[in-house]
Amino acid sequence: MKFKKIFENNEKWVAEKLALDPQYFENLSKGQSPEFLYIGCSDSRVTAEDLMGVKPGEVFIHRNIANLVISTDNNLNAVVQFAVEHLKVKHIIVCGHYECGGIKAALHPSDMGQLNSWLQTLRDVYRIHRAELDKIKKDHLRFDRLVELNVLEQCINIIKIDHVQKALHKTGFPTVHGWVFDVRTGKLIDLGLNMDQEFSKIRSIYDLNPPENK
Ligand code: CO
Repeated sequence: MKFKKIFENNEKWVAEKLALDPQYFENLSKGQSPEFLYIGCSDSRVTAEDLMGVKPGEVFIHRNIANLVISTDNNLNAVVQFAVEHLKVKHIIVCGHYECGGIKAALHPSDMGQLNSWLQTLRDVYRIHRAELDKIKKDHLRFDRLVELNVLEQCINIIKIDHVQKALHKTGFPTVHGWVFDVRTGKLIDLGLNMDQEFSKIRSIYDLNPPENK
C-alpha cells in the first residue's frame, strides 16, 4: 500500500459519505454518545470498527499490545474514566484475538527490551492459570487458551478500577464483556463471562466501596 493512496482513499470516503448525506460531517461534528468502550489489541489485522460493523460515533476505542488493562497506565485510566463518567457507556468490552503476537511472546520468553515490562503482565496471566495451561499439551491450543484467559484477567482488571466501581454502585452500569476475535475465520466470539460472579469471588479484596461503608 502506497502512502499517497491513503489520502486518495480518504477523499473517496468523504465523497461517498457526502453523496449519501450532505450533512454527514456536520452532524458528526456535533458530538459523540457511544454506548460502548472497546479495548482491543493494536494488531493491524484486528480492525475494531470493521469487525463490529459499526459507524463513526458508535464505539469509543482504546487499543494497545495484547489488550491489557494495567492499573498504572495513565492512558488507559483516562480512557476508562472519560468513557464511564462523561460518555456514560453501558458496556465495556475487552477483545482479545487468536494468533496474538503479544501472547505468543509471553509463552516463549526472551529479552525484548522495552517490551519486557509490558509483556510481564501476560506472563503473570500465565502464572495465575499455570495449572490449567500446562495441562494443555498442544501448543496452539495452549496459545488459544491463554488468549481467552488474558481477556478474563483484563476484564477483572476493569472491575478493579475505582471509576468503574463508582459507576456500577450508582447506576448498575457498565456491563463488562470478554470477547475474542478469531483472525483465522473472521468470527467474533463472546466468551460469555459473568463478571458479577467473577467479582463476587474477589470482592473482599478489591471492592473499594464494601457494604459496611454504605
Ligand atoms: Co494482538
